[in-house]
Amino acid sequence: MAIATKKPRILIVDDEPVIRDILTEFLSLEGYDIDTAQDGLEARDKILSGAYTVVLSDLKMPNLDGMQLLQFINDRRIPTIPIIMTGYGTIETAIEAMKAGAYDYILKPFKMEDIIRILDRAIEKYNLISENIQLREALSLYHMSEEMSSKNTPEGIFDLVLNAISEALSPDILEIYEIQKDRSLKILKRKNLSSDDSYPKLDPERLRFIATSSTATLLEDGNYPEGLFIENKPACALFAPIKVNGTNQYLIAIYSLRTNQVFTEGQRKTVLTIADRAGAHIENIQLVMRMQNTFSETIQGFAMAIEAKDRYTIGHSERVARIALEICRGLGLSEDETGRIFQAALLHDIGKIGIRYEELNKPEKLTPKEYEMFKLHPVIGKKILQPITFLQDILPLIYHHHEQYDGSGYPDGLRGEEIPLGARILAVADTYDAMTSDRPYRPALSHEVAIEELKRCSGTQFDPKIVNAFIKMFGEKKGDK
Ligand SMILES: [Fe+2]
Repeated sequence: MAIATKKPRILIVDDEPVIRDILTEFLSLEGYDIDTAQDGLEARDKILSGAYTVVLSDLKMPNLDGMQLLQFINDRRIPTIPIIMTGYGTIETAIEAMKAGAYDYILKPFKMEDIIRILDRAIEKYNLISENIQLREALSLYHMSEEMSSKNTPEGIFDLVLNAISEALSPDILEIYEIQKDRSLKILKRKNLSSDDSYPKLDPERLRFIATSSTATLLEDGNYPEGLFIENKPACALFAPIKVNGTNQYLIAIYSLRTNQVFTEGQRKTVLTIADRAGAHIENIQLVMRMQNTFSETIQGFAMAIEAKDRYTIGHSERVARIALEICRGLGLSEDETGRIFQAALLHDIGKIGIRYEELNKPEKLTPKEYEMFKLHPVIGKKILQPITFLQDILPLIYHHHEQYDGSGYPDGLRGEEIPLGARILAVADTYDAMTSDRPYRPALSHEVAIEELKRCSGTQFDPKIVNAFIKMFGEKKGDK
């Protein structure tokens, strides 16, 4: 709701032209912005299309009287202050009107200074209410936006959108659609707060058309486009697009099934704000997802570079990564840490790019000099990746993947828990895959033999916890798990 403009807008509703004229002339001179209606019916239309600070209405009028107009303002929760004007004979009715929600009443014949006094008080109240509503809305939108920042999937955002709208509008039914590439709509989420569990069924073509609107559309029974609803027509419907990068990507549909509870213009704007906030947050989430994809692609590219260098390790990095992933699951590690270890596994041998590897793939045993060269690959790997900011977290895992639990490994001879957990996991996964793959100097070992070897070296070469997690996930015999 907007705070009242400097010039308050007053709607004078009276079937007597002379009253309308006198009030218009006088109140305009006093600096008010005046509009008039000759009965409740005309007033109702004007109220729906424009915002009035005060509605100053006669009680007895043809078509729709003052009490009915008051009822309408209340039912629709129109943000305006209604004041009733009436003759002396009907003071009881005036009191009835106050009970029904009128802010005050003015007795006819009236004195102009009384009118000004009552109007000024009403305007003050209007401003206070507006400011309060604005503050409350701003605060709840702020909280919603804060919460949205902590979500990393569009689904998380949609849950918050549904909650915020439920709170602000008390609707009966809420739905969120995804607008597909072919412009058809796919339902993503729905929430039914009514006692009836059926949902409105819409004509897909007409819904598709509504989904192209760049703003929120407020409709009610009587002004629905022909054939919009096929089944379970609601009393009122509000549609708002969620724009992502300037394009409508989702559609929020909100329904009220109660004729006495239709949505207001203020609520339409609130929903539009919620949809805008949601769109901005989804934009961020999609950006992060794209960056993560680029990240994974870069890592895959590096992994392929390792394999291009050494035909014996084709598929090795990927297999080690898959094994490491299972061990992480067996250990119950967090998704973040598992992801990091998975990436490190894909890149663990990247340093081999930097050594004359052809010489190392010979059937004979390596000479001590060649072995020293081979042992440099974790150090070279760290050097290659060092300049890449987004890979900093995984450098220690690559650098230490040949450390041994008893301190006899390289490059630093770390022992036990000094070795990063991810590096201890890589050591087991790497050794298992190396044992169960053909090498230039020997054929592949069986799963059972490899497991025996892991168990034999548990506590010396490997961390026993990790060997156990490996056996838990893969079994002692092939086909165990
Ligand atoms: Fe290695």
